[in-house]
Amino acid sequence: MSTTIFAHRGTSKYAPENTMAAFHLAYQQGSDGIETDVHLTKDHIPVLMHDERVNRTTNGSGYIKDFTFEQLQQLDAGAWFASEFAGSQIVPLDEFLEWIQDKPLYLNIELKNNKIDYNHLEMIVYNRVSHYHLLHRTTLSTFNPTSLRRLKHLNRNVGVALLLSKRYKKLVPMAKDLGANAIHIKFRLLNQLLVDKCHQENMAVRVYTVNKPGQMQRCFAMGSDGIFTDVPKVAVHYHNQF
Ligand code: G3P
Ligand code: CA
Repeated sequence: MSTTIFAHRGTSKYAPENTMAAFHLAYQQGSDGIETDVHLTKDHIPVLMHDERVNRTTNGSGYIKDFTFEQLQQLDAGAWFASEFAGSQIVPLDEFLEWIQDKPLYLNIELKNNKIDYNHLEMIVYNRVSHYHLLHRTTLSTFNPTSLRRLKHLNRNVGVALLLSKRYKKLVPMAKDLGANAIHIKFRLLNQLLVDKCHQENMAVRVYTVNKPGQMQRCFAMGSDGIFTDVPKVAVHYHNQF
């Protein structure tokens, strides 16, 4: 069985996460797909960043939701990582979608709405992905079960995944009831029984964040459908050997 290798926030070990440099590198290194995170600006533009605030990955401070897109574009999203990336800008979702359109890559767009439940984030992201005709190779994921339901209401055929960082009793029936097509779980939650149960229910299992060869091999051996890694080149290497 084949495991899809997603570059986590792009190749985030070697380039600043969620920047075009990290996405380019993921493609060059043979990733099957790219995982990224989306928030909304004050003027409702979807942008790719992991944290709610800009503090860790730019030279600014404050919440993304309090910046207009124009203001965010003034920030440096690369210098914090290494001087060679100085001048990198925060990427709007549209730029990413336009770039990926002609590349044979899967997309996993994580809606970062578990701390801030942005108004209409689901519809905005869904409409942008649909506009670029990318729905068939996109999974929209979220830690927020209510958001997952909203996504399914927009289009019951859209691929959605429930993100989990903790163990839950009755996890598989819960995910199924929400309409999830997949669960995305932390590596420490992975076990063969869970993979088998999900597969019986026709749900995929993808695992984050898998950076060590031993962990990768465990995911491949258990039949995980995907992994998220900061080092896709390493994952591609071990997957080819598997
Ligand atoms: O989508 C998998 C993984 O990215 C979820 O955790 O915190 O890295 O966004 P996080
Ligand atoms: Ca993520």
